Order: sequence, then structure tokens, then C-alpha cells
Amino acid sequence: MNIYLNGIFKPRKEATISVDDRGFLFGDGIYEVLRCVNGRLFRLDSHLRRLDRGIRALSIGLSEAQRADLPEIMQKLIEMNHLQDQDTTIYMQITRGASSPRSHAYPAEETPPTIMISATPFQPNTMLHQTGAHAITVPDVRWSRCDLKTVNLLPNVMIAQQAKERNVFGTIMIRDGIVTEGYNNNVFMVIDGTMYTHPDSPYILSGITREVILEFAEKAGIPVALVPVRESEVFYAREVILTGTTTDIQPVIRINDRTVGDGEPGPVTRLLQEELVKQMF
Ligand SMILES: Cc1ncc(COP(=O)(O)O)c(C=O)c1O
Repeated sequence: MNIYLNGIFKPRKEATISVDDRGFLFGDGIYEVLRCVNGRLFRLDSHLRRLDRGIRALSIGLSEAQRADLPEIMQKLIEMNHLQDQDTTIYMQITRGASSPRSHAYPAEETPPTIMISATPFQPNTMLHQTGAHAITVPDVRWSRCDLKTVNLLPNVMIAQQAKERNVFGTIMIRDGIVTEGYNNNVFMVIDGTMYTHPDSPYILSGITREVILEFAEKAGIPVALVPVRESEVFYAREVILTGTTTDIQPVIRINDRTVGDGEPGPVTRLLQEELVKQMF
């Protein structure tokens, strides 16, 4: 597989970065994960918009020319790796670049960012989408800029490990008694016929899949409430759904030791799953 690193396409094994890279030293960078289905980058504009927002918020020195090249690089990687006919994920990471000696504050403005982009064949977990998954609630131990998609993912890594050790697919993070999101997905809850999800805020990442769902709900006339839901209220939900670029629309049928709704994926979940497939394929 070929990847892109700082202007050059090369075999993955040959791609290396500096030990002074601030992504490596400080987690000082941002990333995006996109799906490419049948050669088409799904919701490319939304992903680039979120990337731009992160670049601006962190003052990363990505030039306009470098930014303008990103879509073409992604398409080229798909072609080069013969992934046009496959479901694929694109991983794109942009860090503040390498500077020495190690020093926390931002280095000189002219320090070039490190840009890495790769493409990998992807298989959605269609079986689990049909049967539903189990999840656990966990304390949300992250910082208060979760709206930025930074590579600083250690809390998410630790939370994912808890799920692995408990042998469950998902996590529902709780901050101050409120449901925020999953470690790599957003959470929707259907309570009394209304679809609840955490409002846009520094405590969640506003997911692109979440955006697709909110747009669709408006068109389809599904009532939506962008209001915080308390942990205790999750157990009143008839349906709980995790959403994300690699999660798709994943129903949750059990949380901790309690069954959600009837213990199987519900009608809103099915509707959203159909819509996402329609839009993506
Ligand atoms: C913490 C977190 N929330 C939500 C999402 C879902 O975002 P998207 O739908 O854009 O993949 C992700 C995706 O990686 C994530 O890491």
C-alpha cells in the first residue's frame, strides 16, 4: 500500500517521520477519517470544513495550496492502491510539524506541518448492525475541547480498552451525570418518540454521520431534541444508537446489565440505517 507523506507517495513501510514531530511528542495535530465508497468520498465537504475549523483553532500552518491539494491526494491514493471498487477509509493526519529543541509553545510560524494520508480497505460490521451491540457507561475523562478532532486520543484509547476488557462493542461516556458520546461515535437516544443527542458543544465531537442523521430527521419529520440527557434517562430510551464514519448506524440493545427497549434494533434505527446506505452507496 502506498501512502502520502509530505508531498511524496511512497510504500507505507518506507514512510517515516521525525522524532521531533510535535504529533509524536505532544499529540499536537488533528486528523480526519473519511469513507470512500465506489470511488466517491462520502461527505468530503463536511470533513474538510471540520478540518479547516481545527486548523484555524490550533493555528496549524497549513498553506492554502497544501489545503487545496488534499482532495486530489485522497483520490490519487484510492486509484494508486486500486481501491475504486471497494469500501475504503481514508485517514488524514496533519501535525504542527517537527521542531527542536522540544518546547511546548508553538514553534516558528514557518515550521512546515506534517501531512500524512493513507487509504485502507474497510469492512463495515453489517452483522452487528443487524443484531445490535452491547455497551457500557464510562466516565468521560477527556478534556474540554472534544469539539476538536485532535490526535490526542489517550482517554479514548483507555476507554476503548475498558470496552475490550468487558467484551462489549460500545461505550457511552458520562460527564457530570450527562451522556456525551462514545469513544469514537456519537450517541442518539429515542425517548417518547423524540430522538435526543447531546447539543454541539466543546464536550462532544460534532460527527459528520450525526450531521447526516440530523438533516434526514428534519426532512423525514422525526422529532429531534438537541438537549443533554441524564445517565438515568438513558434507561427509558426505546432505542439507543451509536453513529460514526466507521460505526455507521449501530444499534445498542444492552447497556451495562440492562436491556434497551425490546432488546432488538428499533424502527428509527432501521430507518436511519436505510437512509445512510441510500446516501453512501
Ligand atoms: C469522539 C468521537 N465522536 C464522534 C465521532 C463520529 O464522527 P464522524 O461521524 O464524523 O465519524 C468520532 C469519530 O471518530 C469520534 O472520535
